[in-house]
Amino acid sequence: MKITVIASTPESLVGIKEVLETNSQQDQFVFLDRHDGELDIERVDLFSSNVLIIDAEHVTKVDIRTITSCTREHANPAIIYATNDSQNGQLIELMRAGVAEVISFPVVQAELLDALERLRLRRYIASTYRPRGKILSFISAKGGAGATFVAGNLGYALAKDCKQKVLFIDLHMQFGDAAFYLVENAGASTLTDVISQTGLDSTVIASATTQVSENYFLLQAPDSPDKAVGIKPQHIDNLLTVAIQDYDYVIVDLPREIEAISMKVLDRSDKVFIVFQPVISYIRAVTKVLHLFSLLGYESRKIGTVLNRMDKAVTISLDKMEEALQKPIEWVFPNDFLNATESVNTGIPIEKLQPNIPLSNAFVAMASNIAEIDVKGNSVIPWFKKLLS
Ligand SMILES: Nc1ncnc2c1ncn2[C@@H]1O[C@H](COP(=O)(O)OP(=O)(O)OP(=O)(O)O)[C@@H](O)[C@H]1O
Ligand SMILES: [Mg+2]
Repeated sequence: MKITVIASTPESLVGIKEVLETNSQQDQFVFLDRHDGELDIERVDLFSSNVLIIDAEHVTKVDIRTITSCTREHANPAIIYATNDSQNGQLIELMRAGVAEVISFPVVQAELLDALERLRLRRYIASTYRPRGKILSFISAKGGAGATFVAGNLGYALAKDCKQKVLFIDLHMQFGDAAFYLVENAGASTLTDVISQTGLDSTVIASATTQVSENYFLLQAPDSPDKAVGIKPQHIDNLLTVAIQDYDYVIVDLPREIEAISMKVLDRSDKVFIVFQPVISYIRAVTKVLHLFSLLGYESRKIGTVLNRMDKAVTISLDKMEEALQKPIEWVFPNDFLNATESVNTGIPIEKLQPNIPLSNAFVAMASNIAEIDVKGNSVIPWFKKLLS
């Protein structure tokens, strides 16, 4: 690869140069200093550079602007940014600007080499491989809407009825509960076991999962918040890249707080479902999430809405809800307190526990629409395509 470096100080230039020249013999390098603190990016041959390494003790608005316009106009190079500002705000700004990897400042050899390795892998994958799978993520508009329940049971239907290979990733770094909903006895391995491995591949992921059913696997959240501390956005990015090579669907259960890790997942998702209930406070919460997603630049069709626990007794009509959301509601799940509670209490997916009840049938319908396969294995035309034709 051709790697260009713009260093903030002569000392940091020497440090990065030493790491690169002693460890990456097969690459070509261009070493530059900042000009009066500015990147002066016009000096870089952006077409032929594969990687641009920038460092700065603190992230400035000028850097963010320069990087944003660079990544908007050029597919190359992938940017590695080394900084001390590792708080969420700065991380999110850098990621929004299109930075591929954020590492510590001054540059630490192992971190820089790992980041370069990930970019090498991604470039290789991009040029040689079309991923097998899709990423579907689920977020609760407000606590308790049923996001984990819907996501977990949809995964079961995709695996059982549509014969898809599915991985469920629980990203609730504090108190993940998906395992309780899907299996009677979960194994001990969690996300932490995957992240701590060097050389992540599909066998590492497979060995850390708990099997839910024939084609359905679950990667549990870390079992205590302190075990989640070292997990960074680039770890999750890497995990998703590897997972979609081996699974048809990767379902991610996201926490409600939008921080650097969940933003990475949102960016990578093919579809994001917001789950809510037919209650005014939930509908308000959905409008807030939709507003945030539009600020983050996500296309409206990437975002789907799932109304859970709909009931005859609900007095707000679907039309009124759609009017409030300014968006069609894509999926509606009926309220079924007894069966849902029984499923959650026993750790048995609802369709396995009670096949053919309306709530189970709704999961089969959603799965077959997403996978475009019906329960008999025939391909089906999804409803939105039917509407268009
Ligand atoms: N369609 C339904 N009918 C009846 N009860 C339901 C239904 N869907 C989910 N529930 C119940 O709602 C409870 C909360 O669901 P769940 O944990 O999936 O919500 P969540 O949105 O993931 O919440 P959190 O914000 O805590 O992650 C569960 O105990 C489940 O039994
Ligand atoms: Mg949940």
